[in-house]
Amino acid sequence: MQSGVPTETPKTAQRIGVPREVYPGEKRVATVPDVVGKLIKLGFSVAVESGAGDLANFSDEVYRAAGAEVIEGAAKLWAASDIVFKVRGPTADEVALMHAGQALVSFIWPAQNPELMQLLAARQVTVLAIDALPRTLSRAQKMDALTSMAGVSGYRAVIEAANAFGRFFNGQITAAGKVPPAKVFIAGAGVAGLAAIGTAASLGAIVRANDTRAEVADQVVSLGGEFVKVDYVEEGSGGGGYAKVMSEGFQQAQRAMYAKQAMEVDIIITTALIPGKPAPKLITAEMVQSMKPGSVIVDMAGEQGGNCELTVPGEAVVRHGVTIVGYTDLASRLAKQSSTLYATNLFRLTEELCKTKDGIIDVNMEDDAIRGLTVVKEGNITWPPPAPKPSATPPAAAKPATAVVAKKAHGHGAASEPMSRNKLAIMFGVAAALFWLIGANAPTEFLSHFTVFVLACFVGYMVVWNVKPALHTPLMSVTNAISSIIAIGALVQISPIVGAANRPDSLITWVAAAGIVLTAINMFGGFAVTQRMLAMFRK
Ligand code: NAI
Repeated sequence: MQSGVPTETPKTAQRIGVPREVYPGEKRVATVPDVVGKLIKLGFSVAVESGAGDLANFSDEVYRAAGAEVIEGAAKLWAASDIVFKVRGPTADEVALMHAGQALVSFIWPAQNPELMQLLAARQVTVLAIDALPRTLSRAQKMDALTSMAGVSGYRAVIEAANAFGRFFNGQITAAGKVPPAKVFIAGAGVAGLAAIGTAASLGAIVRANDTRAEVADQVVSLGGEFVKVDYVEEGSGGGGYAKVMSEGFQQAQRAMYAKQAMEVDIIITTALIPGKPAPKLITAEMVQSMKPGSVIVDMAGEQGGNCELTVPGEAVVRHGVTIVGYTDLASRLAKQSSTLYATNLFRLTEELCKTKDGIIDVNMEDDAIRGLTVVKEGNITWPPPAPKPSATPPAAAKPATAVVAKKAHGHGAASEPMSRNKLAIMFGVAAALFWLIGANAPTEFLSHFTVFVLACFVGYMVVWNVKPALHTPLMSVTNAISSIIAIGALVQISPIVGAANRPDSLITWVAAAGIVLTAINMFGGFAVTQRMLAMFRK
């Protein structure tokens, strides 16, 4: 089913309007000047409310220069727009400004805001809730504003923690004394948690993390953290990459582990959420009391009730000598960055909505991604979307494997496997014949060099193959340093220089001397750089 919005004017290009955010303290804006030009290229015209980008450092002038029309006042902007891009869900006053056939793209949180959904439906509009995007579709990643905002928030949470904490994050040995590195514990290693782990580790802290989904352990380690397990076996995945509410037994074991961490660490950053449920209470008042004075908790789950019992959403408070930061606007605190990422997510969505590039969106309900985020379609509530088609579920994916096994059992063999084996056999055959030819015909001197060369290739390949990709850069620099072994050649040439400066071949010896100086730089510099790079991986 294909339909343009608004349906009554499908021929003329539509105007995208971006109002100023009205939520108190919200600094983000739904599009940025860089993206305006891209939307215009898709055939749309763009209008921005005067002052919409001020708090994110985008002036009206810059929007104008990018090709947007700047409109004074929200009422005029909403009336003049066919599609409205917003960050926060609209207030009742903003909904009242909407007209039939208009489309709205913003965060909506339909499960938490049933009244807003009713208000929107009553206006006969189409609403795309960017938070309802089916995130597990790989095609949807470029539109995933939840991930972009969580990444920014995770980073900012660490910065807020560093600001409230009275010490360095990294350990230092100075003339004035030794400073131990800060210990940071991250509860919940989803998108925000992983961003926080990476940021805290890059600042030099010792980072530990826990999550109910055991599959994130590797990701925690790859970002420089240590995964701390709960001493209780229970599958924590609730499907779609999200968590579920854990059993009472697990929660008890988790509390015991968190209580131990609270006593040891300096900073706790909590990010644990379960879709559609209040945030799990992971940090009790007693745990806060057991923390060292001057410690910091940043509770990123404030808006969903908080992971810490003592969090005051939206505020930073001090309890038992511990600063508890419950800000609910972490992404907005990096307004320029988060607006740019959000604007790009919405642009990617617009590309999906306007494949014809004629400036008219098509809310195609046959498209999985578009269907998922369309929560109101021309006045009808279309949320929640139907369950994903069974063909997309993992059990179905197992089928082809069974088929291959069955084929093999019948002796026919799957087409691809024997083909690759044959290819391998041919390759080996050709290589063996080549070696025999070389062995039979080449001079003995060449053969000894050739054998060393082949062995060196083999050993080199095996060594490099076993090095983790993250260490490839230090590996290159150390190889570079080792390659300076060519200095030996120069040393052999330089030996006659002593007492023989006037010999006819003294030029060679001076060139050799220069060679030694240059390779020495390469050698010692290479080892020094490698040392510094490896230090970044050491804890
Ligand atoms: P989220 O914000 O809903 O939850 C944050 C984290 O808290 C999750 O990792 C969750 O497991 C953890 N958590 C919940 N209850 C907990 C408890 N009691 N104790 C400790 N930890 C607890 O999740 P977010 O960050 O939005 O995404 C979660 C996951 O979704 C990602 O890690 C990823 O696996 C998946 N995802 C997949 C995408 C894709 O396939 N394209 C895109 C985005 C997310």
